[in-house]
Formats: sequence, structure tokens, C-alpha cells
Amino acid sequence: MTAATPSIGLASRFVNILLGIKPLYNLAKYRARKMMIDRAESLGVPWRDRVRELSTYEWDSRFEAICDPNLAYPQYYLKPFHAYEEGNLSWQCAWEVEPASYAVHSGIWPEAGAQGDTRLRQCYHDALKQQLSVPPQDILDLGCSVGMSTFALQELYPQARVTGIDLSPYFLAVAQYNSEQRHAAVTWKHAAAEATGLPDASFDLVSACLLFHELPQDAAKAIFTEAKRLLRPGGHFAVMDMNPRSQVYAQMPPYILTLLKSTEPYLDKYFTLDIEQALIDAGFERPTITPTTPRHRAVVARVAS
Ligand SMILES: C[S@@+](CC[C@H](N)C(=O)[O-])C[C@H]1O[C@@H](n2cnc3c(N)ncnc32)[C@H](O)[C@@H]1O
Repeated sequence: MTAATPSIGLASRFVNILLGIKPLYNLAKYRARKMMIDRAESLGVPWRDRVRELSTYEWDSRFEAICDPNLAYPQYYLKPFHAYEEGNLSWQCAWEVEPASYAVHSGIWPEAGAQGDTRLRQCYHDALKQQLSVPPQDILDLGCSVGMSTFALQELYPQARVTGIDLSPYFLAVAQYNSEQRHAAVTWKHAAAEATGLPDASFDLVSACLLFHELPQDAAKAIFTEAKRLLRPGGHFAVMDMNPRSQVYAQMPPYILTLLKSTEPYLDKYFTLDIEQALIDAGFERPTITPTTPRHRAVVARVAS
């Protein structure tokens, strides 16, 4: 797909000005959060009960085991995300991320409800299987969060060794707890996706689910370069994320867009990134871009020979 990259329209500029006014930003943030919790619970996802339960567990030892105290967080990561003042760096956010995913993805297909998240990942994997003729032996999941995308990849390729990387030690502590519950052998690492510290040519598949809409463009491009370094010859880099060319976003009412932007600081940057060209510049073949849901796409690129 090579349609022109969309530019920022007048309505979007106006929304950005509104979000610069603190009381309006706070109101939008509060509304977005309340809508999400109500939506999850109406679908049978026990948001508040689950968070209460997780809050009673012992987290300090898992946090200390995973956290790299010398890691310098990139400035862009220290912004508020998803209506959390501390962004991705808090326990509350780490405990809520799974029910939040069910709530957000329940809206993709009207009939799917809480199964929307699972279906979203299946659609991504269908696109992935179309492009990968040989099952990967070593997989890296960038921006793995609490492990939802990582476990899904592990189920798709059960023979593979799987590693998950994230910048949030809170998320990784919950990922570690989740893998203990599942008896899943995943290696978790606290690092930036643009500087993983992992050896050259050590993976057959580097995957990033729902990571890139959280990044400014220079970070996205640095991650493409790092993925190229990490892949073996013939290896694949795959991105599943929002589809900027989806009609869902083009036709979204401005007040919903306001709510969305109040929780996603780099959405405009992501929507205007020419991902195809940026991947080619980083040393990949021209990627295949497949719409996988009414509002998501899979971008799969093979290392250029
Ligand atoms: C929306 S979540 C996606 C989680 C997961 N992949 C999924 O599909 O459910 C994005 C994740 O990327 C992480 N992240 C953002 N920037 C990152 C970076 N530069 N390096 C590593 N992780 C990053 C965040 O901490 C967060 O866990």
C-alpha cells in the first residue's frame, strides 16, 4: 500500500490547542479513564476487583530483580500516557494495563466484546504467518508490557525462544508474575527498544505490537535501525499498530479525537511517519502493509540482502 501519508488537518490542530489548556486536558483525561473502566466492567472484565487483588501481592522482589538501576529513560518516555500522570512508570498503570486492553479493543468489532483483544492479535498473527515461510527460532517482543503480546507470540510459535523488552520495570514485574502463573519460559529485559544491549544477529523475528504510536519519529527510526542490527540474514521485523489510513480515524468525531489525544502524546507523530520509507532507509526490503482490523495494520519487513 503506497497511498500518501496523511497530514495534520485543521480540526486536529484545534484539538491540540485545546489540550494545551490544563483544566480541559484534565477533564478529557478524567472522562477517558471513566469511560474505559465502565466499558470494561460492562463487558464482564472485573477491572476494579483484579486491581485490588494484584495490589495485595508482593512486588518489591520482582521489581528489584528486573529493574536496571543504571538505565537512563528517554525524555519522551517520561510524559503522562493513557491518563496516568507517571506515564508507564507506576504500579497502578501496570495492574490496570490488561483490563484496559480488553476495554479498548472491545470496540474494534461490535460483536467481539472482551474477545476483541484476542482477535486483534490473531489477525496480526495471520498476517505474520503469510510473510514468514519458516517458523522463527528466536523472537524478540519490543515494548512487551505485561506480556500479552509476548505470550500470544509464544503460543503461535511454541518451539521458539522468546524475549520481551520494555522500559517499564513495573510492567516487567507484572510480566514476570504472569509468566510464573502460566509456567511460560520467557526472558524479560529492562531496556529501551532502541538500545537493547542484545547481540547482533540474534533473532529471526523482532515484533512490536502497539508500541510505535507511543513514540516520536526519531525514536521510531532508531528502533528500526536496532531491529535491523538484531536480525539474522533473512529475518523479519513486524509491527502491529493503529492504521493511520483507517477510515475509523478519518471519520472520528473531534471530541473522541480529543479524548484519544489526551492519552497519547505522540499520536500525530505516529500518524505522519512514512513507515515504509523509514524501514527501507534502515536496511529493510519494501515492507508489506496489511490492514488487519478496521483500525489496525501489520507492517512486515524482511532484512534486505
Ligand atoms: C501500548 S503498550 C503495548 C504492550 C504490548 N506490546 C501489547 O501488545 O499489549 C506499549 C509498551 O511499549 C513500552 N515502550 C514504550 N517506549 C518504549 C521503548 N522505547 N523501549 C521499550 N519499551 C517501550 C511501554 O512501556 C509499553 O509497555
